[in-house]
Amino acid sequence: DCPESLIVVSNRQPYRHEYEDGDGDERSIAVDEPAGGLTAGLDPVVREASGTWIAWGDGEADFAVTDENDCVAVPPGEDAYTLQRIDLSEEAVDSYYYGFSNQVLWPLCHEFPDLIENGDTWSNDFEWYHTVNERFADAVATHATAESVVWIQDYHFGLAPRLIRRQIPETATIAHFWHIPWPTPETFAECPAGEDVLAGLLGNDLLGFHVDRYARLFMECVEQYLDGAVVDRDRWIVDYEDGTTHLTTDAMGVDADTYDRAARQDTDVDAVLAELGVSPDVTLGLGVDRLDYSKGIPERLAALERFFERNPDRRGEFTFLQKATPSRTGIPAYQRLGELVRSEVTRINSRFGTDDWQPIVYTEEYVSQENLCALYRRADAMLISPLLDGMNLVAQEFVASSVDEDGVLLLSEQTGAHERLGDDAVTIDPTDTDGVAAALETALEMPADERRRRMRTLREDVFEADLEAWMDSQFAAIARLHGSRESTD
Ligand code: G6P
Repeated sequence: DCPESLIVVSNRQPYRHEYEDGDGDERSIAVDEPAGGLTAGLDPVVREASGTWIAWGDGEADFAVTDENDCVAVPPGEDAYTLQRIDLSEEAVDSYYYGFSNQVLWPLCHEFPDLIENGDTWSNDFEWYHTVNERFADAVATHATAESVVWIQDYHFGLAPRLIRRQIPETATIAHFWHIPWPTPETFAECPAGEDVLAGLLGNDLLGFHVDRYARLFMECVEQYLDGAVVDRDRWIVDYEDGTTHLTTDAMGVDADTYDRAARQDTDVDAVLAELGVSPDVTLGLGVDRLDYSKGIPERLAALERFFERNPDRRGEFTFLQKATPSRTGIPAYQRLGELVRSEVTRINSRFGTDDWQPIVYTEEYVSQENLCALYRRADAMLISPLLDGMNLVAQEFVASSVDEDGVLLLSEQTGAHERLGDDAVTIDPTDTDGVAAALETALEMPADERRRRMRTLREDVFEADLEAWMDSQFAAIARLHGSRESTD
């Protein structure tokens, strides 16, 4: 039940146009379709609503296919809704995306205050962040009607809600989902322009987080750092200037049926493993992450090294496959992480590896969704060890793909996913090297009936609280507010 007049705002776009081989005007244009995650999940909803989606046009050929207002009808050939692309200069991308979004807000919200960029650069980046948020807000205003529901995604748009509110009809509703953690007030004190971000977010009618803890921390930060705001902690409401923001929590899910179906295809998983250099008969541990410092990959490698120290009989018998997707590689902290991870893998492999066996197989290559699901299904243990993670959808993808019900999920207590899946996963503290090594031993020795019992319960949860359920619940909350706004105005 999606709103009738829906405007989605996100940094990443659902379709990207790229040039294919060829020269000059001869070049043909291809479309990249969303493969998974939120973008793929939201696409059918925006189609159904014949809505509008506003996003950064980061494809090379994006503006070769748009009209004079930078709009293009999508999906290609079906023309079900409008995608409006925001054209960002290199300087804007450097400052808004690589700068304030990913070198201030991302490290801040993940409790890495040391990685926040310094005062010489952030104020310029903040100005660009403001400018880009304003450009998105202006774009929303050109589409908004009295009936509109504006649904904003994530931390790239901390200022946009207030900027949008000024420009659209009173009866329109603005909702926002913050997909990453919210930091403690002590950490938030390090946020440059923190008051502006809080005030910006309080332009929303509805602000959603994955888990209660983040919503509570948000309220604490507002109380401490924003003069004039009135927080009702019992009702989860904040009054600020002439608006009221309702807070909600809704843990996001994955499209479980799609993963289940993909895992059941008869993909030759041995061939997929062989391609990666993994012998088909090993006991398989698996890690799948964006190459991000919040994911705890070096800590995981340390635990694996400890595991092989403690279990010489597992040498030659157990292989850990780590798939890492390079991300935000323009940022020094990400470059340093990539170097560290690659050198640690090499070091551990040269310590324990033999001519025909490597303890850790590491790849940054693209793996198709079908092959990924086959690997999830094949894995004996899935190791998810972020130091802090808003939700972690990989944990749920693994569960949805575990159709044989025999894999074990090891899950960091610092993930949003742990609030829901913690009881039937093996809980780990990602910083406890011995503890993670011991948890991996437990997982690999767990009797088949216990593995099955745990995985069944996990699957029930992941199928019930899937992506569609999350969207329904968000739209129901929006509808309640929307209805009350219309009746009081
Ligand atoms: C996280 C964020 C998303 C973001 C994704 C990929 O999950 O919450 O908003 O899209 O990472 O990061 P990227 O910087 O490549 O968009």
